[in-house]
Amino acid sequence: MELLKAIDLSKTYGPERGWFATNNNKVNAVNNLALSLEQGENLGLVGESGCGKSTLARLLMGLEKPSSGKVLYRNMDFTDWSQRRMRMIRSKMQMVFQNSLSSFNPLFTVEQIIGEPLRNYRAGNAETRRAKVVETLELVGLNGRYLRRYPHELSGGQQQRIGIARAVALRPELIICDEPFSSLDVTLRKQMMDLLRELKLELGLSYIFITHDLSVVNRFCDSVAVMYQGEIVEKQTGANIMKQADHPYTRKLLASVPVQDPLLRGKRA
Ligand SMILES: Nc1ncnc2c1ncn2[C@@H]1O[C@H](COP(=O)(O)OP(=O)(O)O)[C@@H](O)[C@H]1O
Ligand SMILES: [Mg+2]
Repeated sequence: MELLKAIDLSKTYGPERGWFATNNNKVNAVNNLALSLEQGENLGLVGESGCGKSTLARLLMGLEKPSSGKVLYRNMDFTDWSQRRMRMIRSKMQMVFQNSLSSFNPLFTVEQIIGEPLRNYRAGNAETRRAKVVETLELVGLNGRYLRRYPHELSGGQQQRIGIARAVALRPELIICDEPFSSLDVTLRKQMMDLLRELKLELGLSYIFITHDLSVVNRFCDSVAVMYQGEIVEKQTGANIMKQADHPYTRKLLASVPVQDPLLRGKRA
């Protein structure tokens, strides 16, 4: 079953107008792009900074309207849907950002942050919502003791756990992670990847995982799409990506991945 599909998707920004405009150029952030995601698939999305990954994520989530082309969720074309009609689909797709803290309301406690989507969608009453928040905290490896804490009091890893908890509070089908663990150290990053794996089993999630880390793609993703200047230049299954990279850009990208084993360093073509 196809969960999400982008057809001929484009997004153009600019040129800016007015006296204080700094950008006089048109930017084709996403350029006639096609993409499809099966239910249960973990799709890695890689590509250099500025190639349009975050823009694509916002288009797929319906947070921005494309300049042309369309996005289908379970075969429903929601490109022209009203905000009100979008709500149904929004609850099924959520995002996790690189810096969760900056996406939280600083005046909110952990309970309010994770409870916000539940309030928005009027899920249950105050009591059942609190129970759901605690249940969700436990899903991400925290517990009810965190309810009254403020996110700035927590560690970077815990903040990302809260970001993930907020994303799964409504029990979505798809989570788009936009370089979610780039600012965490290696050990924490591994713990967070394990958490995403557990959540997938527990909740039956699909992921689009935007990252610079090709080793994550190899271990976590079923497939990988390589993006370059607003286009997807290559899509491969995860096991294959390291072995056969057709597009020259992919090969360059692979060659730039740090090799963990010192004995193998410098040996890759
Ligand atoms: N809201 C915006 N207004 C103008 N230009 C934008 C906007 N968002 C992104 N861009 C431009 O679109 C291109 C792609 O950006 P982005 O999607 O953030 O890339 P990535 O996430 O791969 O780093 C960049 O050139 C960026 O400057
Ligand atoms: Mg980005």
